[in-house]
Amino acid sequence: EPVDNMHAYLSVLESRNEMLGEYVVKCLHTYGICVIDNFLGETKGLSILSEVKALHNTDKMTSGELVNRSHGSNAQRIRDDLITWVDGREPGCSNIQFLISSMDAVILKCTRKLKKCTINGRTKAMVACYPGPSTGYLRHVDNPNKDGRAITCIYYLNKDWDSKVDGGTLHIYPENESRIASIEPTFDRLLFFWSDRRNPHEVMPTAKTRYAITVWYYDAVERKQAVEKFTENQKPA
Ligand code: OGA
Ligand code: OGA
Ligand code: MN
Repeated sequence: EPVDNMHAYLSVLESRNEMLGEYVVKCLHTYGICVIDNFLGETKGLSILSEVKALHNTDKMTSGELVNRSHGSNAQRIRDDLITWVDGREPGCSNIQFLISSMDAVILKCTRKLKKCTINGRTKAMVACYPGPSTGYLRHVDNPNKDGRAITCIYYLNKDWDSKVDGGTLHIYPENESRIASIEPTFDRLLFFWSDRRNPHEVMPTAKTRYAITVWYYDAVERKQAVEKFTENQKPA
């Protein structure tokens, strides 16, 4: 019966998310980083990829580095990506919306098990394209100054990616460790890591177009403090 099948399907989905959530929490507490391969499967991944390509091909993306950081004419750019922010309800983004919901479902299973961190919200999804050749993102920390972002979650969309030829590897340099994590941006791979100073990271130069979708999850306490501080600074003196 359709209804019974639906219940069976939902309960399988529920226990998969439960398992993934447990795995993510364990990896984050041990390594500060977690990789999940084959997150949504070939068909769903391809549908998301075609929505992302459409955003790219219709010039919906703009430079990720909008702020002029230069203190002189020879200042170096730190990132070369093109980005756009989506919440999934925009036309032509229903598969991206499915991805965001799937990320949320895993994070929801993590929330009670995470120490020193209560996730209570997130940013929109940042759809990013490194057009290549030789584009990347220099070493940085996503949240160096307590803006509220606790966990970075990235979904990669790159079919037949070979880092030896194509570059684009994400290098993470965990604080107080000599090890480097090298993460290839392969199709249908999901990555989580702490957004703060524990995880400086960089995107190595890519030889060809590299797509990814990133969501940042907020810690309730740090986010509240950041918003209050911001509001305070906006008040006239
Ligand atoms: C920063 C920072 C550390 C690093 O950008 O504020 O802490 O090693 N960087 O990249
Ligand atoms: C970022 C970033 C990493 C990646 O957008 O802040 O570090 O692998 N992206 O795309
Ligand atoms: Mn980053």
